Amino acid sequence: MIRNIRHSLSMLLSLAALALMPASPSLAQAAETPVRMELPTPSKSGGMPLMQALNERHSTKTKYSGAALAPQQLSDLLWATWGKNRVDGRRTAPTAMNKQDVRVYVALENGVWLYDADNTLIKVLDGDWRGEMGGGSLTLLYAIPQANEWGGAHVGSLYQNAGLYCASAGLGNFVHVSGMRTLDGKLALPEGWKIYIIQTVGLLK
Ligand SMILES: Cc1cc2nc3c(=O)[nH]c(=O)nc-3n(C[C@H](O)[C@H](O)[C@H](O)COP(=O)(O)O)c2cc1C
Repeated sequence: MIRNIRHSLSMLLSLAALALMPASPSLAQAAETPVRMELPTPSKSGGMPLMQALNERHSTKTKYSGAALAPQQLSDLLWATWGKNRVDGRRTAPTAMNKQDVRVYVALENGVWLYDADNTLIKVLDGDWRGEMGGGSLTLLYAIPQANEWGGAHVGSLYQNAGLYCASAGLGNFVHVSGMRTLDGKLALPEGWKIYIIQTVGLLK
């Protein structure tokens, strides 16, 4: 009997202690506040003359150093790939009926981020996944709606933009299907969307 009363008392005390404990601020933050990273304003001038960049464009599959790009270079790469280049919000790559139904994700050393063309990255996944997707400084992941018959054409425009930027900036890059399923089931894409292809980009040794 006395043992039962003691047991009930200790249960009550434990429950009271739990109720008085403050909620963990870091957990609450992770659930409610998406992590955003502002990018530097892209530099929309300079670089290699276009004809020279076309002449330099090529795939590089080895000799990546793995070092991170400078924030300015990251911003310029993403802007060249899929940034806004007109005041009405149109982009550096065309899409059928200007639907702009392509998403670019970038896997960095500190997680996977969604590119928002208002010069911001929004974190969508923790972890460093680059090694499973070709290495390099980063991996670009191109997502499209499965039902869009022009999706592949759209993505091709984007990866060519990225490839030309890389040629101009002396960065390595290659487009590949190998490793492109790495984030299936981990990356929360909109309903009916899929990763179409990925592109490794990076500083070279
Ligand atoms: C749609 C597409 C898919 C590709 N998939 C792969 C791949 O899975 N693995 C790979 O090593 N290279 C891949 N590549 C790169 C090609 O091998 C490369 O572009 C081709 O050899 C021509 O070389 P270049 O880009 O230097 O002109 C792919 C390229 C494209 C455009």
